[in-house]
Amino acid sequence: MRAKKPKSSRPPSYKKTSFGSGLYSPKTEDLRPSTSSPSPPAQSGYAKKTSSRPPPSSKNPQMQSLIKEFETELDDFHALTVPWERKLREMASGISALRLNSIIYKRFAPIYDDHMVDHARSISSLASQLFTMEKVGFEFPEKIVQSDLLEMSCGTGTVIRILADALPEQRLADLRITANDISADMQVRAMEKLHDLTVAYERYPIGQLPFAEESFGTIVLSQTLHFLTDDEVLRQERRSDYMFINEDRHVEAKFNAISQAFRMLKPGGTFIVFDEWPHILTNDGGPLGPKFAFLFNDNLRTIGRTALHRSVFSQIKGASFVAEMNVPIDSKHTMYMIVYAKNAGKTEDALPDFSRILGSRKDACERIMKMFRAIDQDFRDSVRSPGKRSFVKLLPMEKKVFVYNGTLPKHENYYNCAVVSGVFFHLDPSDKIRFLNSIIASVKRGGSVIFIEESISPVDSYHPFPLHTFKREFMARYSKYLAPSGVVRVPVLADSGMFGHQYRKII
Ligand SMILES: C[S@@+](CC[C@H](N)C(=O)[O-])C[C@H]1O[C@@H](n2cnc3c(N)ncnc32)[C@H](O)[C@@H]1O
Repeated sequence: MRAKKPKSSRPPSYKKTSFGSGLYSPKTEDLRPSTSSPSPPAQSGYAKKTSSRPPPSSKNPQMQSLIKEFETELDDFHALTVPWERKLREMASGISALRLNSIIYKRFAPIYDDHMVDHARSISSLASQLFTMEKVGFEFPEKIVQSDLLEMSCGTGTVIRILADALPEQRLADLRITANDISADMQVRAMEKLHDLTVAYERYPIGQLPFAEESFGTIVLSQTLHFLTDDEVLRQERRSDYMFINEDRHVEAKFNAISQAFRMLKPGGTFIVFDEWPHILTNDGGPLGPKFAFLFNDNLRTIGRTALHRSVFSQIKGASFVAEMNVPIDSKHTMYMIVYAKNAGKTEDALPDFSRILGSRKDACERIMKMFRAIDQDFRDSVRSPGKRSFVKLLPMEKKVFVYNGTLPKHENYYNCAVVSGVFFHLDPSDKIRFLNSIIASVKRGGSVIFIEESISPVDSYHPFPLHTFKREFMARYSKYLAPSGVVRVPVLADSGMFGHQYRKII
């Protein structure tokens, strides 16, 4: 997917735009890591609040000496023994989460891309599905990835690179990009990786992004939610020496970041999250594991998918679910992509021309099937690419079974794809179980089962089955056999949408 086109074709006038004064044509001296933020722009294309930038580090001499000591210990970390880990952890607990992040990423930045190859590949595969969906399902002038793009924590620039490489030339030429990250050392890598693009670099903490309301068409938050921790919960955890990752804690900071994103989005704009749920982030034997795991673990907490949907997105006023996809990163982790749109006003305006595609249930089902078929093609292509380790092999969808009203398929391990449409809601619980057992048995390993159901709530019900208890039971009972691999939504009426849920048969 990379390097599809020469990047030198951006019109020269682009550089003259007043968008974001942080516009960089990085000179060599710009590429040096610095501990201070780039100076704030004299004039800004998107109006920023006048509030001053938060100080990048503490001026307190005691804190400075703690940081210095910590950094020295960290440099020698490989030679240290377990009691020293404890000492480092104690020291770390005296340093603010943001400062700690900068220290860790200073050490991590040089090896970040090597360590994250599989992560980047999975995001690349998801991005290709995003663009497929955009082509097939959202035929508007305004796309899922819109101009005025902000990545809230750009790191080494991987995601912006992937999106830029996937965009057609004209859209790339029109794309205005802002890459924010709190770590100067990570941003230096981004500047190298994105050297051919015109990018405004900023260095604000995510919770304090000063951009004006409705400044961006698309905002990306990638692999960062777990760093957004709630100070008070962290303090409590430290007091009780709490060491385990509890997915449903630390919701406030995440909620704040996502609320901020929606504040900054233009009406009809899109918010795209890439992340792993659930995960034990660092204990995976990679270079990060032994060196930094204990530090990261002390300072970050993930959030479960359910909590994210229930506690965060359902409370963001005006957020409409668009799509969710996932692909395996490796044998232990899965990368998720979720896409939300900011309502333009009424629910049916969730995407710019949402109302234009309001149609019948039949149209919606066909559109969903078209999306899944197109996405499957991308899946198959990505499965073929070298270096893939744990993708389930997909089969072409030449044989399908459409099941209505409890008619059970007769063959075992026979079909490549089973589509269960508009029937589930009506079945008794015991029939649902009998029915599902038989559907799963009828599909080949690696094949898909697609459920198409209408939702009841327009905004926050992303489940295909309105009965949430059934959904829970379904996952508990069938997750051994079926792995969720995609959810998309197509609106049918002003207040409801048709949801397609795709699962892959894994055993
Ligand atoms: C795992 S990296 C992800 C980088 C990039 N988004 C990607 O997907 O490759 C996490 C990034 O989040 C940044 N970060 C963590 N907490 C942050 C905060 N509160 N504000 C801004 N950036 C933050 C880190 O500096 C780091 O570059």
